[in-house]
Amino acid sequence: MAIYNLGSINADLTYRVPHLPAPGETLGARSMTRGLGGKGANMSVAAARAGARVVHLGAVGRDGGWMIDRMLEYGVDTRRIAVLDDPSGHAVIAVEDAGENLILLFAGANRCIAPESIAEALEGAGPEDLFVCQNETNAQRDGAELASARGLRVAYAAAPFDAEAVTAVLPLLDLLVLNEVEAQQLQAATGRTPETLPVRDVVVTLGAKGCRWINTDTGTTRDFAALKVTPVDTTGAGDTFTGYLLAGLDRGLPMPTALEMAQRAAALMVTRYGTADVIPDLKEVTEHRF
Ligand code: RIB
Ligand code: NA
Repeated sequence: MAIYNLGSINADLTYRVPHLPAPGETLGARSMTRGLGGKGANMSVAAARAGARVVHLGAVGRDGGWMIDRMLEYGVDTRRIAVLDDPSGHAVIAVEDAGENLILLFAGANRCIAPESIAEALEGAGPEDLFVCQNETNAQRDGAELASARGLRVAYAAAPFDAEAVTAVLPLLDLLVLNEVEAQQLQAATGRTPETLPVRDVVVTLGAKGCRWINTDTGTTRDFAALKVTPVDTTGAGDTFTGYLLAGLDRGLPMPTALEMAQRAAALMVTRYGTADVIPDLKEVTEHRF
């Protein structure tokens, strides 16, 4: 069992600021750190930290060797990450004291992934494996089609939201993870509520209110309350949630148990600054007392 993640890899430049900048404002930052990030890399690291075998499909530039090294260090299979002439992706992230953030994204190599490389990477994969992608790369549709043709279960995290990208993969999905705002955007684009999507399992994350699982096979909806924490930086919490959720499902956990683990991991993430570099491992997630 493995998770094949077609996903972005970014250098996260995180600036701590007293408030989010207004248009035209010049704002001094209290601190700056450079870490590993990208919704894809965060998800891969989270799933690997949760104990899953994770093969990351993606690309960095020649300046991105340190990011591959870190992913490897965190337990991700990095052999399918291409090194291209394009610059690596990066994100400029402002985090204000109340924990709210603002992200400026430069995709770079993340949008230059060759579909043939995805086909090659999936050659050994089959129905016991999972495929996942998000919206910070190219080739999501190719990836989802290739994976679905090989019998993999296909999951998709609709972030950052892109109506065209979501609707293109919707018929191929077994699992869709989206936040409240993305659910509204999807409804505006397709006229469908999460309950009426053609996807067996839909998980809507509700921030401090927890999450909702909709199983369209059985027509059941179940809400899970969030754990109470004081947020300092919510960046990467959603990606950690999805990574942990997939790792749980890959391990054969029932959805409610996998969701509880995912919520625990995400709750820990909002209490710390940073993204991939600070994702907790399974032991910590299991043993932490909230
Ligand atoms: O979801 C958080 C991520 O969004 C950051 O790590 C940043 O790289 C952007 O992709
Ligand atoms: Na964080």
